[in-house]
Amino acid sequence: MSKHYDTIIIGAGIAGLYLASKLPKEKDVLVLCKDVPWECNTFYAQGGIVTALDESDIPIHIEDTLIAGAYHNDRNAVEVMSRDSLLIREDFVQSGMEFDTDEEGNLLYTKEAAHSTERILHAGGDATGRYMHMFLMSQNPHKLQKNSLVYDLLIENGRCYGVRVMINYKPHTLYANSVVIASGGIGSLYQYNTNSRTVSADIHGICVEKGIELKDMEFMQFHPTVFVKTPFARKLLLTEALRGEGAWIVDEDGKRFLFDYDERGELASRDIVSRSIFLYKRKTGKKVYLDFSMFEPKWFKKRFPNITKTFEAIGYNLPKDRVEISPAFHYANGGIDCDLEGRVPGIKGLYVVGEAARTGVHGANRLASNSLLEAAVFAARCAKAIVNDKNCWEKEPTFDKDYDTLLHEENDKKYKHQLRKIMWDDVGIVRTRKGLLEAKNFIYDTKSKKIGRLLELRLNTAAAIVNAALRREESLGSHYIEEDKD
Ligand code: SIN
Repeated sequence: MSKHYDTIIIGAGIAGLYLASKLPKEKDVLVLCKDVPWECNTFYAQGGIVTALDESDIPIHIEDTLIAGAYHNDRNAVEVMSRDSLLIREDFVQSGMEFDTDEEGNLLYTKEAAHSTERILHAGGDATGRYMHMFLMSQNPHKLQKNSLVYDLLIENGRCYGVRVMINYKPHTLYANSVVIASGGIGSLYQYNTNSRTVSADIHGICVEKGIELKDMEFMQFHPTVFVKTPFARKLLLTEALRGEGAWIVDEDGKRFLFDYDERGELASRDIVSRSIFLYKRKTGKKVYLDFSMFEPKWFKKRFPNITKTFEAIGYNLPKDRVEISPAFHYANGGIDCDLEGRVPGIKGLYVVGEAARTGVHGANRLASNSLLEAAVFAARCAKAIVNDKNCWEKEPTFDKDYDTLLHEENDKKYKHQLRKIMWDDVGIVRTRKGLLEAKNFIYDTKSKKIGRLLELRLNTAAAIVNAALRREESLGSHYIEEDKD
């Protein structure tokens, strides 16, 4: 089957769906969703969405974002995001999204690490992503196709013509005037991660293959408070809003050791807290916990209902019990290069939004809960660009190469697990040049074996991360490099 759409959007998280909702109803738009719609990182986002409180908070939000990002951010992008946050809040509230409010109907704001003030909207207590995702699904006026795995972008002579996609396990070629990548980050490359299982770096890998630039890929973000002792690929996040509301990180003796590393303790930025936990565990061999015992139980259960229930199901009684935690991969600060309307430089008709994009907003480390905001702000701008850019074309070139029978090979699963382990061990929170070179050898060695296309794409993205990490010899933000021991 082949068909020519106005716009194809790859991905059905906040970026893809918000963008879809901003494209005219009469346009022929298709949203491709890799699995079922709720298998995306938006759905699992707990903490909330940042908004500057008012005009006077914009400069402070900008400064908080820049400090967290180690000033590696694109300042102009940060200013755009913070200014537009007021419009985004207005748009969501006016169109019926129900954020948590007090009894008088005033919006409630929470705090997370490295924010100077409470400015994070939340919904369903600790289920912000789920509520926003359900809301956006209800607002999407366009067709959404489930079970659609994109395995190639049709690019020729500096223009994107469409995609090759397996829909319900059958190959299709779909053409479009505009193609938007909204496929999320790279979580499945890491052994321990908080991401949906669908987030596996395929589209980044296609970009590497086509010579499209990925930027800031050395800056991978590790969330400090994750319960990793479950058999499932997606590990259980304990939202940073818990610490924003006053939870402590303690060792097995109850010591709040983070103050030995940063005077802000639990409220230092995410890169610092994750690294401090990692280094403290390595130095002492002690276990580390999140302690909620200071919270009044009735309040806690109302404010964090999903965390309460999730942990109850595995035997914890919150807030009384403390939970053992570890950092885990959470978010790609870097991604596919684009301008502030999502256009991918040098490829007409191709756009990128959301976690997949590198807008420059996050710099070397993302400020908590800026991700849903970034996705919405730049998706809205991208929708306008798509409407205004002249992307129509008449006749597509011939695209001969196809891979539909070669998506998987026999040993892929084994190599995939090895890759996840090596990325965690050697391209994780603390890196050494020696470890990075070992990871690089594994990646290129595996690429030379008989492997399927999807693994090849993962390896392309892993190589981009490792090569970026090798190029940056000094530590910055979430990229932390130690001297080799020998
Ligand atoms: C969290 O709730 O801690 C995650 C929010 C984010 O990734 O910014």
